[in-house]
Amino acid sequence: MRSGRRCRRVAPDHPDRTVWQTLRCVRGCVVPDVYSIITELDDTTLERVATAMESSAADPQHRVMVSAYLSDLDVAESARVVEVGCGTGAIARIITSLIRVLEYVGTDPSPQLVERARELATGVSGLRFEQADGASLPFADASFDLAIVHRVLSHVPDPHRVLQEAVRVVREGGLVAVFDGDYATTTLAIGTADPLQCCVEAFTRAFVHEPWIVRRLSRLAAQAGIIDTRVRSFGFVQVREADYMLSIVDRGADTLLSDGVIGADLASELKAEARRRVLDDTFFGHVAYGSLTGRKPLD
Ligand SMILES: C[S@@+](CC[C@H](N)C(=O)[O-])C[C@H]1O[C@@H](n2cnc3c(N)ncnc32)[C@H](O)[C@@H]1O
Repeated sequence: MRSGRRCRRVAPDHPDRTVWQTLRCVRGCVVPDVYSIITELDDTTLERVATAMESSAADPQHRVMVSAYLSDLDVAESARVVEVGCGTGAIARIITSLIRVLEYVGTDPSPQLVERARELATGVSGLRFEQADGASLPFADASFDLAIVHRVLSHVPDPHRVLQEAVRVVREGGLVAVFDGDYATTTLAIGTADPLQCCVEAFTRAFVHEPWIVRRLSRLAAQAGIIDTRVRSFGFVQVREADYMLSIVDRGADTLLSDGVIGADLASELKAEARRRVLDDTFFGHVAYGSLTGRKPLD
């Protein structure tokens, strides 16, 4: 858990108290990344997080990025695939629509997200979901041909351990694909001192444990024994159809509100300003993503 981020305690019956405030108090006063405490979230927060996952993955740009990194891998039709931290299964549904595999097992620590993933993937053959923590997967060594770790390492306190586990459950010569947000690049600003950028900073603080993870992937992969690595970067931009970037505005404004930095009026104004820009064609939200693909060496 990242240290040094302090929450302001607010009385349970205070009118400004929000789900984010409640969340912040789960582990004393230190503010964690919400995804890293996914099993402790209340229903409202979990629903909001699930909606954001689906809305980001629903953007066609996401499918293009997944397709690009999959093209770096030679995946056989007989492949058994494990995904670590699958959330609502949005990426599992994209991948199983792009390539044919024998078996695809999505895993996530949250039983509610696993249940949601099962509902949303009804009828997709070979695709199933299991509850599991990426830091200790309930699979024998060498059970899979490919491990996918998509938008997870930036959210866990020990990314090295999660990546090592992914490598452990892949057979020798098997494949690994890691993808994540280079969240340090996230921008909503269209000019100097743009107030919307404050939402990005607050969002990143509350929702991303390690915003620089993409820049550390090569080193992490080498430490986990992954070889023949290939790194790519991608730009993700939203201007008119901006559901995901608007969710960053909303979650950032709500974080600033619950931190006591701004009041309810300004939080509403920031959200309204973002929507005004969408209508005026002046909205611009961008985040870079990065992927690393490679393989586990033969003995
Ligand atoms: C940003 S979401 C990404 C979900 C999905 N991979 C996607 O891209 O749509 C991060 C996911 O990591 C999961 N997660 C958090 N801690 C984890 C852990 N220790 N092991 C595996 N997954 C974890 C969360 O439950 C959440 O589903």
